[in-house]
Amino acid sequence: MALQMPSLLSCVSRVVVLLAAVLVTTSITMSGEWGEEGVMSIAEWQWNGATVLPEDSRVQQGQLILPHAEHSSEGLYSCHDASGLLLSSMTLRLGRVPGLPSISCRASNYENFSCFWASSVETFLPTKYITTYRKKQQSGNESSPTSNVGLCIQDPAHPLSCTVTKSGFWSSYRMNVTEVNPLGSSFRLLDVTMHAIIKPDPPEGLRVEPVPSSPRRLRVSWEYPSSWPKKPHFELQFRLQYRPIIYSSWSVVETANVSEVITDAVMGLVHVVQV
Ligand SMILES: *[C@@H]1O[C@H](CO)[C@@H](O)[C@H](O)[C@H]1NC(C)=O
Ligand SMILES: *[C@@H]1O[C@H](CO)[C@@H](O)[C@H](O)[C@H]1NC(C)=O
Ligand SMILES: *[C@@H]1O[C@H](CO)[C@@H](O)[C@H](O)[C@H]1NC(C)=O
Ligand SMILES: *[C@@H]1O[C@H](CO)[C@@H](O)[C@H](O)[C@H]1NC(C)=O
Repeated sequence: MALQMPSLLSCVSRVVVLLAAVLVTTSITMSGEWGEEGVMSIAEWQWNGATVLPEDSRVQQGQLILPHAEHSSEGLYSCHDASGLLLSSMTLRLGRVPGLPSISCRASNYENFSCFWASSVETFLPTKYITTYRKKQQSGNESSPTSNVGLCIQDPAHPLSCTVTKSGFWSSYRMNVTEVNPLGSSFRLLDVTMHAIIKPDPPEGLRVEPVPSSPRRLRVSWEYPSSWPKKPHFELQFRLQYRPIIYSSWSVVETANVSEVITDAVMGLVHVVQV
């Protein structure tokens, strides 16, 4: 990738950021249209203020060529005239265009869902993400496809994730995560059906207590996960399983309650209880 500098006088003390894809020959050109007709001044290139240039680099008619530009060749390149006067300078930074990000989404309740992504290419460049969705109604009414586009909201405290709030339990969403850097952008789409991705968080506050004067009974109680809003239409089912620790098979009880009494505990043995 080559960057043609504008005429010399106009670029004195101007700093240009040159971005190039790595593994591409980089050449930085100083145009030679200065001085008297037919006379070329001798310009000197510096790298980060020193006359030592990256290995492999060569200067050809005012052009600095870096045939194997690598991250170690990044830095400030400047061109000086014979008296040391700065003619021009630019910062070289190398990176890659974004790759396709990978996305996954999950919901720990029926009101909101979150999507998470990872970039597939290390770009070495400042990157931002644009996260949007298109909502499809359950009715399958596709007559207005451009409506219902929304922003999946990014919270700086949780990078590489975004949240769709007030999502509809029966709705489907087409998520669009676009990775953007100074060299370009790349987006990935993912279709998400809300009710298919809901996975409640585990129950909280699990307690196991003896039942007074009933040596074979244990009272097990727990609470709804705090991320699950308790409303009548969306109750959770729980599966309680337990066994004496020295046994290998579980006893299993399914319930919609938040407590259960085990009636067949074995005296003198430690039990494992899981909800
Ligand atoms: C689809 O949506 C349009 C505009 O929102 C509405 O006029 C139409 O009645 C809807 N059709 C059905 C089948 O729901
Ligand atoms: C869903 O998101 C809204 C807005 O951020 C928030 O007020 C609400 O508490 C969230 N619901 C749950 C169950 O976390
Ligand atoms: C995804 O989002 C990006 C950035 O907003 C946009 O340029 C692109 O067209 C979108 N792709 C689709 C298929 O909607
Ligand atoms: C839930 O627990 C209550 C009291 O703890 C009990 O009366 C009720 O039968 C239990 N319901 C189910 C479905 O187990």
